[in-house]
Amino acid sequence: MFNRTKSKKGRRSPLATVSLIVVGLMTTGGAYALFSSTASADDSSTTTVAAASQSQVNEGQKLFASNCATCHGLSAQGTSEGPSLIGVGAASVDFQVGTGRMPMAAQGPQAEEKPSQFTDTQVDALAAYVASLGPGPSIPSTSLTDGSDGDAAAGAELFRINCAMCHNVAGAGGALTEGKYAPNLTNVTGKHIYEAMVTGPQNMPVFNDLNITPQQKADIITYLKYVQDNASPGGFGLGALGPVAEGLFIWIFGLGAVVAMTVWLTAKSN
Ligand code: HEC
Ligand code: HEC
Repeated sequence: MFNRTKSKKGRRSPLATVSLIVVGLMTTGGAYALFSSTASADDSSTTTVAAASQSQVNEGQKLFASNCATCHGLSAQGTSEGPSLIGVGAASVDFQVGTGRMPMAAQGPQAEEKPSQFTDTQVDALAAYVASLGPGPSIPSTSLTDGSDGDAAAGAELFRINCAMCHNVAGAGGALTEGKYAPNLTNVTGKHIYEAMVTGPQNMPVFNDLNITPQQKADIITYLKYVQDNASPGGFGLGALGPVAEGLFIWIFGLGAVVAMTVWLTAKSN
């Protein structure tokens, strides 16, 4: 009798340990889930996650099937003609279709920019469809992209360090290898500048929020808008290409003037 109670007690204590562990795991798990969901709620405050409705996704899927699937595959899984779009995010679609690069017209070293073929609603639908296939960068909120609340000086510094080697200090653009080029950035909307940074089209690297924070991206946009609105203070810009272009300018026009003067002087003396 005494032995049985004792053994019962002995059996209860491992059970208690197990239930303690289960309760412990559930509390930490719950706390973690709570913590990570508040953390992701913080993330989303920097970017608008426009809740895509199912009808928008369906509309996007239809547009995708008739305009994009030939190259990207019926479920955007990619083909030999175009990469998989699973996980590229709404921002990539908004950038590629909004700047008219997609649908790509002809195979070439780089997708050409052209007037967008779709209305804003259609672009949003396409973006919502691709975003529904896998998580990726979302379309940024206007507060970060309108170029009004950034620090132009800080943006200029960031631009010089991260972007100027391809796009030129003044954002005038420049040639890259194999027929590719980094485009001129003075006529790009703030939204497309932001999206280019988070998605890294083609040869451009991705600048995620750890490399360049959303506020720093806003600074860069402010700087580029400043360059756009304030033409060079004096003289000809010469494409802001730097010493080579300036040297060439003097070489051709300066030397040309000297030659012309010589010709004129000798003509007079005859
Ligand atoms: C003629 C073939 C073709 C068609 C049609 C086409 N694409 Fe593309 N797409 C490509 C190729 C090739 C690339 C990669 C080359 C590049 O980025 O310059 C690409 C790249 C992309 C990217 C960038 C992917 C990334 O990694 O960020 C997106 C987004 C995209 N396409 C969306 C679309 C959408 C949406 C449509 C339809 C409206 C479309 N494409 C139609 C060929 C095509
Ligand atoms: C390694 C070279 C490289 C670097 C560095 C680079 N880019 Fe780019 N960028 C490119 C190329 C190449 C393209 C064109 C991609 C295409 O057409 O598919 C591009 C395209 C863009 C576009 C789209 C322009 C348009 O006309 O639609 C923007 C905006 C842009 N870059 C901004 C930036 C900013 C801002 C930085 C720095 C934070 C940067 N880039 C750094 C190579 C680069």
